[in-house]
Amino acid sequence: MKFSSALISLAAAGLVQAGPVARRGDITDADILQYALTLEHLEASFYEQGLKNYTQSDFMAAGFKDSAFFTNIKMVAEDEKAHEDFLTKALSAAGVKPVERCTYSFPATDVKSFLAVGSMLEGVGVSAYLGAAAHIMNATYLSAAGSILTVEARHSAYLRAAQGEAPAAQPFDNPLDFNEVYTVASPFIASCPDSNMMLPVKAFPSLMMTGGKAMTGSMVQLMAGEGFEKMNAKDVHAAFITATGPVWASIQDKGNGKFMVTVPKGVMGQSYVVLTRGDKQATDDNIVAGPAIIEVS
Ligand SMILES: *[C@@H]1O[C@H](CO)[C@@H](O)[C@H](O)[C@H]1NC(C)=O
Ligand SMILES: *[C@@H]1O[C@H](CO)[C@@H](O)[C@H](O)[C@H]1NC(C)=O
Repeated sequence: MKFSSALISLAAAGLVQAGPVARRGDITDADILQYALTLEHLEASFYEQGLKNYTQSDFMAAGFKDSAFFTNIKMVAEDEKAHEDFLTKALSAAGVKPVERCTYSFPATDVKSFLAVGSMLEGVGVSAYLGAAAHIMNATYLSAAGSILTVEARHSAYLRAAQGEAPAAQPFDNPLDFNEVYTVASPFIASCPDSNMMLPVKAFPSLMMTGGKAMTGSMVQLMAGEGFEKMNAKDVHAAFITATGPVWASIQDKGNGKFMVTVPKGVMGQSYVVLTRGDKQATDDNIVAGPAIIEVS
């Protein structure tokens, strides 16, 4: 296994030595590493597939004419592979059997959709590491996760800029919790080896944006998927997840799992909206669907 010099210094700092795995609440540091590895497997597989599917001339034909662009995308792919190898090694060193790659299904059919899905996955990666940070007990693991997070954020900025989106659309990134991340990642996971440990996470019913214009003050149409339970219209609320807590949005129930939500002030760029029961909090206890991913411009 190859490690870059940065990873070698992390290894020297003790991450890949065997050690006890600390626990906060229900979720242990080992669970968090497995969860991170689950995401890195997905990202690494995604870029591996994409770079098999699309050649440099496909990128040029799609309008990405600078040859450095293709080289940089290959570098992103290598970073994800290095993250995957690193977490695998860290788990083995902690005496835990690392989860293996699953089979995936990505909605990418050409260079353009490949870059759009890549950008979205990088954004989710940032939100996932950010949300997990508060749960990591061991400082060595925390700085390792931080060093991955900052790289994912640069990938995200690069891919956003390539698509004409603001690289850093707002001053604070949005943290997502384990179940929220699993909800947005699970549509891409077709099946996993039986030997993989079950992560202590669950997916909420899906929520998709199906129309409208995602701009401040405009309305978007959302559709809740399988498992969404019919509720009294006045009990359903919509919250955008931000670093400083939920930003509540005005919502209209259109029936059959369809909702119209007005994009509130204070959310920009890759944003996440959940439906909740009640409007006091937006946590695992009362999320009833989502998050949906919405790019607000
Ligand atoms: C953190 O994890 C590393 C690697 O497993 C281990 O060597 C170290 O003892 C742990 N530190 C604490 C405070 O548990
Ligand atoms: C690559 O191509 C295969 C076969 O067409 C397709 O199933 C897969 O989704 C594509 N993956 C990406 C990331 O473009």
